[in-house]
Amino acid sequence: MPPPPVPDDITMSPELVDLGRHLFYDARLSVDGRTACASCHQQELAFSDGRPVSVGAHGTVGHRNSPSLANVGYMPTLTWANPHFTTLEFQALVPMFGTEPVEMGMAGREDALFARLAADPYYAEAFPAAFPDRPAPDLYTITRALGAFQRTLISLNSPYDRATYYGEADAMSDAARRGQALFFDHRLECYHCHSGALFSDNMQTARTPFPENAFHNTGLYNIGGTGAYPAGGLGLYEFTGVASDMGRFRTPSLRNVAVTAPYMHDGSIATLEEVIRHYAAGGRTIPDGPHAGAGHENPYRDSLIVGFEISDAEIADLTAFLESLTDQDFLTDSAFADPWPDGHPANANRVMPLN
Ligand code: HEC
Ligand code: HEC
Repeated sequence: MPPPPVPDDITMSPELVDLGRHLFYDARLSVDGRTACASCHQQELAFSDGRPVSVGAHGTVGHRNSPSLANVGYMPTLTWANPHFTTLEFQALVPMFGTEPVEMGMAGREDALFARLAADPYYAEAFPAAFPDRPAPDLYTITRALGAFQRTLISLNSPYDRATYYGEADAMSDAARRGQALFFDHRLECYHCHSGALFSDNMQTARTPFPENAFHNTGLYNIGGTGAYPAGGLGLYEFTGVASDMGRFRTPSLRNVAVTAPYMHDGSIATLEEVIRHYAAGGRTIPDGPHAGAGHENPYRDSLIVGFEISDAEIADLTAFLESLTDQDFLTDSAFADPWPDGHPANANRVMPLN
């Protein structure tokens, strides 16, 4: 697999990546001193947070599920549905300075942030080492370093990879192999959208001539008008204003999906089995409440979401296949772990999803 593309103004270096990793785990980047990037993107969960929707500084509840950051450097557009976020450097400004919702809450506090970082002995050496020509913490250097670290989050060593590319036939169970056949079968159609090396029809590498982008409505909700979608549920429509873009989201990669529950842009499906039943029904039916209705009646549902027959045994096999996409090395690789010593001001008050 070729490496992810790198913006022209950046040269990847070990110093830059190390700086980015320290920033990623540093809760001093937030207004409450408790919320680091890692607070919503934890390594054991493939850099997701295990919650339906994220909770930011001062307990602010957001609208969206925290996506895995595995292989994020290969994603041509970032977040669940924003077609304009095309670089990690630009996207990193949103959690730090965004207000809808507040995630790290640093809007208007830029200078305090830069001063705080400059006063830390590690950063006093690390910024000049990574940026000899621009040695101070500022928006440019912070976001370049975060982007460089995130580009190293590559996960391509699951049992599926070992069985498929490295000749280790035993790496996958028989159930996972039967599930693989189902996944790539026309009856289920999964592979049409969850395609290629990332199991997503969104992908770019340093060698692809143009990025591949795709957004789909999978029939989670049945509403055709703007009024009644749950918050954050309009998807691509928020940016295009085109009616048929309502409820359309970027196809998530399925790598490590077994550890990134709950699922979908709003975390509204708890388990992989329920995700499969949602597709089998050709859209989700919500019996009551403000969003009650049958997702298979959504007029903007993708034409591939038509439903299919599937037995309980086949659901178990398909689930085993999805579990075979978990890369244990990635979840435990010390190169991606918290670099700060325990009890350091960077992590002493940091909230982490699993503890
Ligand atoms: C409060 C929780 C929270 C914090 C803190 C947070 N994120 Fe996120 N992150 C999210 C959520 C939720 C999304 C999805 C947003 C959306 O789709 O609207 C996301 C999306 C992303 C994405 C896009 C991933 C993809 O697959 O497209 C990247 C990259 C990312 N975050 C990096 C970071 C970095 C870097 C930081 C620290 C500067 C950070 N995040 C801090 C919750 C958080
Ligand atoms: C028409 C394209 C399409 C097809 C076909 C499709 N998916 Fe998806 N899949 C998506 C999109 C888009 C999402 C995100 C939807 C959302 O959040 O609103 C998604 C989400 C998922 C998720 C949740 C991932 C996460 O991180 O939250 C899983 C698991 C999944 N799909 C598995 C499957 C399986 C298994 C099949 C075959 C039965 C399948 N998909 C068929 C496009 C598709």
